[in-house]
Amino acid sequence: MIVAANFKTNKTRAQTRDYMDEVNAYIRAENVKSEIIVFPPSTAFDNYGQGLTQGAQNAYAVENGAFTGEIGVDQLKEFGIKTVLIGHSERRHILGETQKEIAVKFNYFKNLGYQIVYCIGEKLETRELGQSALLAYIATQLVDIDLEYENLVVAYEPVWAIGTGLVPSTDDISQIHADLRAKTSKPLLYGGSVKVSNMVEIVALENVDGVLVGGASLYAQNFCEMIKIAEEV
Ligand code: 13P
Repeated sequence: MIVAANFKTNKTRAQTRDYMDEVNAYIRAENVKSEIIVFPPSTAFDNYGQGLTQGAQNAYAVENGAFTGEIGVDQLKEFGIKTVLIGHSERRHILGETQKEIAVKFNYFKNLGYQIVYCIGEKLETRELGQSALLAYIATQLVDIDLEYENLVVAYEPVWAIGTGLVPSTDDISQIHADLRAKTSKPLLYGGSVKVSNMVEIVALENVDGVLVGGASLYAQNFCEMIKIAEEV
């Protein structure tokens, strides 16, 4: 199982330090076998010691240079970061990243051997058009993405389920994950309003290899409870 926390634009460096220390202590005390990834804001990158994997929510496809407001590989290397989130719906739909730009980023970090957590997911209006329209839309988010890249993790996060408390039915998650499984043998995460109370039924589904959690991951104790659930699957 993979349990990943995406802080988005939340937490300061000091808050992140407390969180990381608590989660790492839990991982060590419970001898956790699942892969635990935390994506803090880049201002909180640091060396957090053994246990969880620190990932970047975003990075530009450069080592360094004149790209105001972006971070590149040099800034990741400083903290030994080798995991990057690419294609998150907030970057696609709020920050306007196109599939073309996302694919450039994907291929850049793939060539460097990074672990890539690659996000896909549809808006409600697409979901309402039915399963074949939904799958056709998802296919547009997989253009120029190597689905057999060895360090790939795919996260299915329906946009309408993110931060809303809405979750697709387990049948709906199963269907889309089965379709994704036909396309890739790599781990498949579900994300979108995952919380302690709904995680058990989600991770019990076939072809769900873990979760990517936003809001409910922000409290270390909550996140540790999620890790516990993953360990029991
Ligand atoms: P929520 O868990 O807050 O719905 O966010 C999901 C998400 O976008 C994780 O990347």
